[in-house]
Amino acid sequence: MNIEDFPMLKQDLIYLDNGATTLKPQCVINKMTEYYETYSANAHRGDYDISFKVDGEYEAAREDVRRFIHAKYKESIIFTSGSTESLNMIANGFFKNIMEPNDEVLITKSEHASNVLPWFRLQNEIGIVVKYIPLDDHHYVTLENVKKSITPNTKVIALAGITNVIGDERPIKEITKFAHENNIFVVMDGAQSVPHRKTDVEDLDVDFLAFSGHKMCGPTGIGVLYGKKELLEHMEPTNVGGGMNESFDNPNEVFYKELPTRLEAGTPNIAAVIGLGEAVRYLEKIGMDNIETYEKKLRQYALDRFLEIPHLDILNIEADSGIIAFNVDQIFSQDVAYYLNKYKICVRAGNHCAKILKNEVGVTNSLRVSLYFYNTESDIDSLVELLSDKEKMEREML
Ligand code: ALA
Repeated sequence: MNIEDFPMLKQDLIYLDNGATTLKPQCVINKMTEYYETYSANAHRGDYDISFKVDGEYEAAREDVRRFIHAKYKESIIFTSGSTESLNMIANGFFKNIMEPNDEVLITKSEHASNVLPWFRLQNEIGIVVKYIPLDDHHYVTLENVKKSITPNTKVIALAGITNVIGDERPIKEITKFAHENNIFVVMDGAQSVPHRKTDVEDLDVDFLAFSGHKMCGPTGIGVLYGKKELLEHMEPTNVGGGMNESFDNPNEVFYKELPTRLEAGTPNIAAVIGLGEAVRYLEKIGMDNIETYEKKLRQYALDRFLEIPHLDILNIEADSGIIAFNVDQIFSQDVAYYLNKYKICVRAGNHCAKILKNEVGVTNSLRVSLYFYNTESDIDSLVELLSDKEKMEREML
């Protein structure tokens, strides 16, 4: 789908590592180049035409993102450097101020490091307790297990919408409804879900959402922190400095601006914000429902072909995202990735930043194929051809 839009795909390359980052369509590259070549001024600071143009494009991108995730207010959209920064801001700028010793955060062992380490840090700094929701036999989160895990001390449930190794899609809406009935906040790590599924924060009713631009055809170094406006208003800026202050005179007289500027200190990544706006419009043109349908079909095709190979151990047969995690019997995952690289196929190998997942699935490393809408059955066929011939693989690894 839309292969011709991607300059990277003009090379002799099969890119199957979209969970790590996605390729950029020409329109996003052009939009950023246009900024650098024709109106390369700072944002929200200049009193001249090119600066006004920057302000217009920057705020238009905020509106694009608002529409894309169906947020009620533009002020709920904060530009950050990526999901990692967004999740750190949520933990340090909001929860650190409202959580007390022995208050609990519920996560799972299949979360990405960015949705584990900020909570570990709060445990070490202020004595909250990180607890894990048990996963079912497929390593999925169920509402039942969430219900069993809460205690009167549970303050927040923080979960990926889709996990980055198992690729399971969580029932976030149902979990949020239950959480709110029990006065528990919900944080959603949308890094692997927002690029692949229609996301409606109003409908999901999550309190916070984090996601990254580069995993959805946008630039690197840009991401989004969404928060309900009334909650963001109580978020302490984790960065202070230029742009976000209204006035200051001495340490006791410091006044910050209103949302969203208050949480965007310093010169932002302007080109990337504008590029992200373009990426959002590009994805909307294709249609998020079409992307989801296409990926599910391609996943099934890939899975059917993988299941023909007896020496593959697939870790997540049941998942329905574009992520397939597997191992080749008796061969170290990274060696397989290097082998595939010889044939210009890019997949990820290792622990994928989900370092406590091994305690859940009993496997430390795996290979991961992660699909996007520009992948094809022919990409899968090329991969399957190489994976099928284990003898050749072993011979060429020597
Ligand atoms: N979080 C990214 C991944 O899972 C980098 O590959």
